[in-house]
Amino acid sequence: MVIDIGTGDGLFVSLSARQNPDKFFIGIDANASALVKLSEKIHRKPAKGGLANVLFVQAAVEDLPCELNGVASEVHVNFPWGSLLRTVAAGDCDSLSNLRRICAPEAELKIFMSFDPVRDRFEIERLELPSISEMFLKTVLVPRYQAAGFNVLESGVLSASEWPEFRTSWAQRLRDNDRRSFIYILARASENKNG
Ligand SMILES: C[S@@+](CC[C@H](N)C(=O)[O-])C[C@H]1O[C@@H](n2cnc3c(N)ncnc32)[C@H](O)[C@@H]1O
Repeated sequence: MVIDIGTGDGLFVSLSARQNPDKFFIGIDANASALVKLSEKIHRKPAKGGLANVLFVQAAVEDLPCELNGVASEVHVNFPWGSLLRTVAAGDCDSLSNLRRICAPEAELKIFMSFDPVRDRFEIERLELPSISEMFLKTVLVPRYQAAGFNVLESGVLSASEWPEFRTSWAQRLRDNDRRSFIYILARASENKNG
């Protein structure tokens, strides 16, 4: 099962589900307003845009339903904001543990986030976010992810010109901006919570 947290309008989930009909996808967001149309459409017949392998759930990362415990083989967090951004960028232990709780052993965790130090400065201040450098990733975030039960396989900071292709609405919205950096963390749920 593939779970996308902070799914927004669900575009990533619906495109991925169409391409992978043998996998089941759950899109989760604390705010369901952008999902109203799509969550109605998925129940139509396949010829009319229906998707039998998709479910959307309204929930916050801080309070994920216990029915999801241990079910995910992949967890995605794409271009988060608000408290979800704080969870993954500052390595908030309780919420990272919630992400770990929904993972099966060896599940993949894929996080992609982006910052514009000028445009996002008020949000960065409000959330008291650290400045994320390669050094911060390696010395601070990797150990915090490990403490929450994830082994970080790869992480890094890319410049705007190095942005990979992404099929989410916010990736498309953010990418044409030279100041933006792009941060990724690829991890695997460890067998035991402490690695
Ligand atoms: C910038 S949008 C990105 C949406 C989508 N992933 C994309 O790439 O197009 C960030 C999303 O995170 C959601 N979000 C913020 N805090 C959250 C939380 N604590 N738990 C779950 N979702 C949250 C917001 O409601 C919003 O839909």
